[in-house]
Amino acid sequence: MSADTLSPAGTTTVAIDDVDITFASKRSRVQALTDVTLHVEPGEFVAIAGPSGCGKSTLLKAVAGLTTPSSGSVALRGERVTAPRQDIGYVFQRAALLEWRSVRGNITLQAEMRGMDMAVARRRADSLIEMTGLTGFEKALPHELSGGMQQRVSLCRALLHEPSVLLMDEPFGALDALTRERMNIELNRIWAETGTTVLLVTHSVAEAVYLASRVVVMSPRPGRIIEEHTVDLPRRRSYAETLETPEFHRISSRVRELLGAAGDND
Ligand SMILES: Nc1ncnc2c1ncn2[C@@H]1O[C@H](COP(=O)(O)OP(=O)(O)OP(=O)(O)O)[C@@H](O)[C@H]1O
Ligand SMILES: [Mg+2]
Repeated sequence: MSADTLSPAGTTTVAIDDVDITFASKRSRVQALTDVTLHVEPGEFVAIAGPSGCGKSTLLKAVAGLTTPSSGSVALRGERVTAPRQDIGYVFQRAALLEWRSVRGNITLQAEMRGMDMAVARRRADSLIEMTGLTGFEKALPHELSGGMQQRVSLCRALLHEPSVLLMDEPFGALDALTRERMNIELNRIWAETGTTVLLVTHSVAEAVYLASRVVVMSPRPGRIIEEHTVDLPRRRSYAETLETPEFHRISSRVRELLGAAGDND
């Protein structure tokens, strides 16, 4: 599978090679991933779909340097990942917000950690707040927000420094259908305009195919990649029109079929 995605050393944005991850404790041993090879080129948008517990979050954490592979290797722009990486944006499966900080404070935390110009960061935070429909809640604390709103704050924080690699773990799972659709359209715009490389884990087949340039399907645990589909559609996509295309239907039905066979009918 990797043969046609190999590129000269240093140019591949994310290179995952023969990765195995096993979690072992005194009580148990869980093999989360086996033999995972995935090469993501600059500006690609790769969506990862797979049944619950197949190791999707584990895979993203390995790319971010938050989990170490038991064997195999992960590299970002040709540099092996051996420790947590700062040069990425990460939207975690659960919004990880500081309870004592406001919406704006949680977003600009990213800027403080990186020593960004605070005036620029605040302006950018305000435009992200507007984009994600959080206007009016700038001063609210996380416990005053719904789960979906918290997740949007987390998305704003991940986008604040305009990262060239964005890892997203079911970022829209807690949103209502309409907001989710709006966020999908925004994310497509951001990807098309900025050329950011994105790895997105999602349980929604429609979301995966609408957003991605490539959809990767994983098997049940221990997770491995069972099939990949290149989505042959323009980068900037209209939501309604894309959902009507034969390409969208072809890939969605195949991915659904694979996930159905794996017992995941989401
Ligand atoms: N830190 C850890 N210690 C021990 N086991 C872990 C750890 N992290 C994950 N696992 C196990 O690894 C497997 C894969 O977990 P992971 O969270 O990656 O799945 P997932 O595909 O993201 O699932 P979901 O779709 O439900 O979010 C699970 O069996 C989980 O119990
Ligand atoms: Mg997960």
